[in-house]
Formats: sequence, C-alpha cells, structure tokens
Amino acid sequence: MPISFQEKSKVFTIHTENSTYAFMIERLGLVTHLYYGERIYDESDLSYLTNAAAVGRPALYPEITYPEFEAGDAKYCPHARLQEYSGFGNGDYRTTSLQGRFADGSQTIDLRYHSHKIVEGAASLPGLPCVYANEGEKAHTLVLTLKDAAQELYAELYYTVIDGHDELMRSARIVNKTGAPFMIDSALSAIVDIRKKDFDVITFYGRQDSERFVDRSPIRHGKISCESTAGLTSHFSNNSLILCEHTATEDSGECYGAVLVYSGNYTVSAELDHAERVRLALGINPAGFCWKLEDGEAFDTPQAILSYSNKGLGQLSRGFHNLIRYNICRGKWKDARRPVLINSWEAAVFDFDEDKLVEIARGAKEFGVELLVMDDGWFGNRTWDDSSVGDWTPNKNKLPGGITGLCKRINDLGMDLGIWFEPETISENSDLYRAHPDYSVQVPGRAPTRGRWELLLDMTRKEVRDNIYNQVAKVLTDSPIAYVKWDMNRYITDAYSLALASDQQGEFYHRYVLGVYEFMERLHQNFPHVLLENCSSGGGRYDVGMMYYSPQIWCSDNTCPTHRMKIQYGSSLIYPVSTMGSHVAFSPNINTFHDASVLTRSISAMAGTFGFELDPAHESEQSKKEMLLATNLYKKHYFTINHGDYYRLVSPYEQAVPTSRISAWQFVSKNQESALFSLVQLDNVNDSADFFVKLKGLDSRKTYKLHRYFDSRNGKEQGFTTYLDEAELGIFSGEVLMKAGLHLQLLRGDNMSTLIELEAL
Ligand code: GLA
Repeated sequence: MPISFQEKSKVFTIHTENSTYAFMIERLGLVTHLYYGERIYDESDLSYLTNAAAVGRPALYPEITYPEFEAGDAKYCPHARLQEYSGFGNGDYRTTSLQGRFADGSQTIDLRYHSHKIVEGAASLPGLPCVYANEGEKAHTLVLTLKDAAQELYAELYYTVIDGHDELMRSARIVNKTGAPFMIDSALSAIVDIRKKDFDVITFYGRQDSERFVDRSPIRHGKISCESTAGLTSHFSNNSLILCEHTATEDSGECYGAVLVYSGNYTVSAELDHAERVRLALGINPAGFCWKLEDGEAFDTPQAILSYSNKGLGQLSRGFHNLIRYNICRGKWKDARRPVLINSWEAAVFDFDEDKLVEIARGAKEFGVELLVMDDGWFGNRTWDDSSVGDWTPNKNKLPGGITGLCKRINDLGMDLGIWFEPETISENSDLYRAHPDYSVQVPGRAPTRGRWELLLDMTRKEVRDNIYNQVAKVLTDSPIAYVKWDMNRYITDAYSLALASDQQGEFYHRYVLGVYEFMERLHQNFPHVLLENCSSGGGRYDVGMMYYSPQIWCSDNTCPTHRMKIQYGSSLIYPVSTMGSHVAFSPNINTFHDASVLTRSISAMAGTFGFELDPAHESEQSKKEMLLATNLYKKHYFTINHGDYYRLVSPYEQAVPTSRISAWQFVSKNQESALFSLVQLDNVNDSADFFVKLKGLDSRKTYKLHRYFDSRNGKEQGFTTYLDEAELGIFSGEVLMKAGLHLQLLRGDNMSTLIELEAL
C-alpha cells in the first residue's frame, strides 16, 4: 500500500515510486519524523529511527522538555527531535510550522496526534491550485489531524501521493474551534527534517530579463532562504529549492526538490542546525501576513510538492516535469498541440493599427505561424504605457473595425487571434479610475507608489474582479479569440483593502492571490477553448500555481537566444519546456543587440513553446525560408519536445570546452523511437575543436539514423552570412551514442548551433 499505518509501532509509511517517507506517533501523541529517502521495500519496523531522530544532551543544552517528561530528559526536548509540523513557543527553535496568537494573547502551540484517516483520491484545496489525479490514476491521501495540547486548535495535515509519480504533496488546514478568534502569524505548508548535512543547496535568483539563474552552493549552518514580499513570485527568486549531495550530477546522487504551488509572497528555506540536521520549510511568507481565523473557520495553506531522487538532478526534474504537465496543467491545451504564434510586441510595440497587424499575420503565415497575438496598445487611448489600463474597449483609431473586425480579417487568413490584457492594474489616466478611484490599492492618507505608471486593482474585492472580468468576457464572447496573454507589470506596494477591517489588513496579500486565482478559474471554466499565457514583465510570476490556470508562461522579456540559455536551463530544473514561453525574435536582438542565426533563435525557442516576436516585413527571403523550416521541424517534433523526456547535457553555466561555453540538451520521445539533440555555442569560436557529447535516454538496443541541421557560413564575397545547412550523420546504436558519445566539431563564429534529429530504424 502506498500509505499505511502500523498499529503496533504507530508508524506511518508513505511510498512513492522510488521514495519512502515515514513518521510515527510516540508516547503522549508526539509526532516524530523518521525518514525521507530512497524507497524501502520491506515491511521493517522503522520506529527504531526515533532514537536517531532525537539529539541527546551533548548536542543540545540547555534542554527544554515537553511538560510530561522529567527535566533533563533531553531526548524529549522538542528542539532535539525531527518534527512533522511543529508549533511556535514550545521549545523547537528552528523555523516552526505554525505561529499565532490565541484570544488571551498567548502564543504557545503544542501540536499532538489527534486522529487520522487514509482515503482514496488527491487532496483538494478550496480556492487554491493543487495537484490532481487524472482519470485512471490512483491517488492516496493521508489526513493527519493534530491538536494543540491545551486549546481546540487543530492542524490537519494532508499527504497525497499518486501511483506512478515520485512526488509527495503536502498542505495544512488550520481549524479554529477555540470559541474565539485565533490570529495566524505564520502557517507553513510543510517542514521536512532531514538527518544529513553534506548537501548543496540549489536556488534560483534573477531580475527582469535574467530570471531563474541557478545558484548552487554548499549548505552552511544557519538558514538559506528565498523569499518574496513583492506580492508575486518575483523576478528576484523562485519558490522552489533543491537539496542535493555535493557530488550529485545530472545522473547520480541523492536530491530533494521542494516547490510551492503558489503565486504570492513565499518563503522556502533550508536550515542546517547545530546538530547537523537540515530543515526544509515552505509556505506563505510570514512577513506582512496575519490571518484572523474566527471560531469555526478553517485556513488552507498552499500546497507544497516534495520529491526525492537517488539518480541525480535529471530524474528529479523529469518527475517534476511530468507532474506539472499532467497533474497541474489542465484543459484542452495540456494535451493538444498548441498553435505557433507571432506576438506583436517586439515588432510594433504601441505603434500599430489593424492593417499593420494583418500584414504581420500575413507575413508570418508564410513561415507556418497559426495565431497572431495583439499585445499591449489596442485599448482605450493607449499610445504609450502611461494610460488606459482598465479600459478594455478597442482603440478606434487603431482598430476602426473593433476587435471583431480585426478578428474577422485574421480568421480570413486561416489564422486565429490572441489578445493581451493586464487585468490586475489600473492607469490613473483611465475611465475606470475616473469612475472608481476606490478600486485601486492605496493606503488612505498616504500617497501611493506607482509601478510603470500603474496602480494595483484591489483583487481581494469581488466587485472589482467582476468589473474587469465582465470587460474581458465581453471581448472573448464578441469574437472567437483563441488566446489570452495575461500580463501583470508591477509588484505590490501599499497593501491595503478598503474592504478589510484594520485587524484583517494582514490578509491582503493572500486574499489578493486568492482573488486572482478565482478570476483565472472563471476564465478557465467559461472559456475552456482559450489558451491562457501568463506573463509578468517577462517571468516575474513563473510558478506552479499559475500553471494550474495557464499551461504556458512568458519566461522572460529577454528574447536573446543565447541569454535565454541560462534562463531556460535554470527553469528546466523544475519546470517543463511546455510551460516556457519562448520566441524567435529579431536579430540583432532588441535587448542585447546580439546577432544570431535563424537556427540558433529557433533552437532556443524550441526549448519552449516556440513562436515569433518580430516583423516579417523586415526579414529576408532566406530568413523566412529558414523560419518555415524551423516551424515545420517544431511541429514535426512537437510531441517529443512537449511530452517526451528532457535531458540536460551541457550546462551554459560551465566552461565545457576551452574555447566556448556550450548549452546542449536533448528530448526523447516516451517510446524512445525519436529524439532531438540541440546545441548552442554561446561564445565566438575561432577554432573548430572536436568534442564528444554523450547522449542520454535512448534505447541502447536500438539503432538511430541521425540528420543534422547546422549553421554554415557563406564566403567572403557574401559578407560571411550565416545560413542553415543539412547533412546526414549516419547510423549509430543507442548504446554507442550514450557510452562513446556523439562526435561534433565546434562551428566557427558567433552563437552558432546544431540540431540533430534521431529516428530509430
Ligand atoms: C510586459 C511583457 C511584454 C509585453 C509588455 C507590454 O513587459 O512582459 O511581453 O507584453 O509588457 O506592455
């Protein structure tokens, strides 16, 4: 059984495909964590680990014991033990799971076992995104209820596993039956205590245009934490974290991954304490948070996803990819091939009209594009970014025939229309603001801060959401719009809602996120055919919470293919490429002025959702020919790329060969019949050094035919222009390709690249 409870030993065991998680109920209902790691198949009694789970006096002094034990019994000191979900103020001095204040102002929380049940199906969280089981998949959930030793305060802990997956989903529901309000100051989704210290911690950091860069460093005593107080996930860091052995590689070593299914303020941390134990902690950031839980009410934390791999980072990532693709993403576009789109932003910014958009669409159709996205600038009096957000009616100067007129012309080309909205913000120079200034987020008596000239809309209030929802829904109902880009271009400041009492203002940030989720759920339910792509000044809200509503998210505003290598490589540690919005943009790139061939730009975009962000009118006939070839390649390999397995081969963060930094990766179809190898050289190379790359994930008994697309150069008389060339590479066995490796030569020139198709014979 995936989840079991042994009456005799009082041990709970939770198995995933390759891991085991265990904890036990001890005397007086103490809940002690025992083990999380490699799967244990036999039925051994793991309760002996409770001794290992407690640190004795030499390591911990002065000891504080639970009230029922003798002073001096260091073993029963809350801080000495591995905990499942610990309360604040009771002698556990690490990051505790639950902190709050009872009606008398006291803060001590002492959580003990109360009851449990094991049920079929996945846990569902009201109003929050969470992992679900598909039809035919079996999910199992343990609900463990803890109760405070003195008061009627409960913590229901949910543990869900799904057959065939390696992830463990956890969340907590805090239930107040104390007869008076309980103020929650912090309610984390999960803590996990691991008795091991030789870890590296991998976290993600960045800024706009450089999101989710990888930071890997040895753990040290104290706490390494990534947090957001921006109200969004933010560009600065991501709400995921990996612990791995110092020696762990893509293919070997123990790794633990932790991801929060949430889009607001968060904390994820790894804390190595003086007794050499690591506590992973994930949840809503307590900074700026306080929730007034009335008697009889319950509060649900967001869900945390935990995973373990003893086969390195690659396996950990592929597990997350599968879970996110199939058990987080929903709706039609989770399985169906998504359209290849062209977005108007980098082509036209605000300077377009109906004819220009039709011209972009017509031009892009020549290279296989199926959908035009009209980005920012189509509404109200919008000619620059300082007005009209909130007025979601077409700008008649730009769109004389309205959206309907434009949509008809695009549809007549045999293409679909997509449209940009920024539903959470408001320009002061807008009709909506003039009519409803109170809809904006401001602290009374204090001048508001602005972000990109915008104020926030108070998404905690239903009437505010309804106003914007109705405007958006009208546009989507009046015309057959196939795609929506939901943008969010500012962080939260001045968190305050006119609808909340003074002792509830600490609820603002979380209620804001719940409001956004409710809005997106309505869109998802009422417009199931619409493909929703999230965006937040690029990848400022790139998280699993958002992926529940939109199966793809604009990964970064940086469309430079070589810069994208680090961004997309970093993102791939947790997130599948099917979620990474990525486009072929102008060369030179408008962000970095780097030149790159069509192939390099296409390979970068193919490690994502593949689309275009340029004006076809500016492209040469040769470029358009190559773009068509790239689009066709993408369509041909769509299912291998988006539904196959992803292998990182060479990291763009390392100097793999002396003359160039390289980024290389590979997609393999689930049946191992086809694969796609991609390589981008990040630097200018002036010698053509030989090197080998060992491929991964192939069937060693199969033989594969290799066809190569690569950047070539015309001679001096043509000005050394780069063009796309092809060649047969021959037939190789999977075993040879994986053991001896693929033999390649560096290509001379800037940002050159290679794409190799592998088809099993
Ligand atoms: C943000 C997005 C861009 C574009 C602009 C429009 O910066 O990330 O892709 O949509 O807004 O204003």
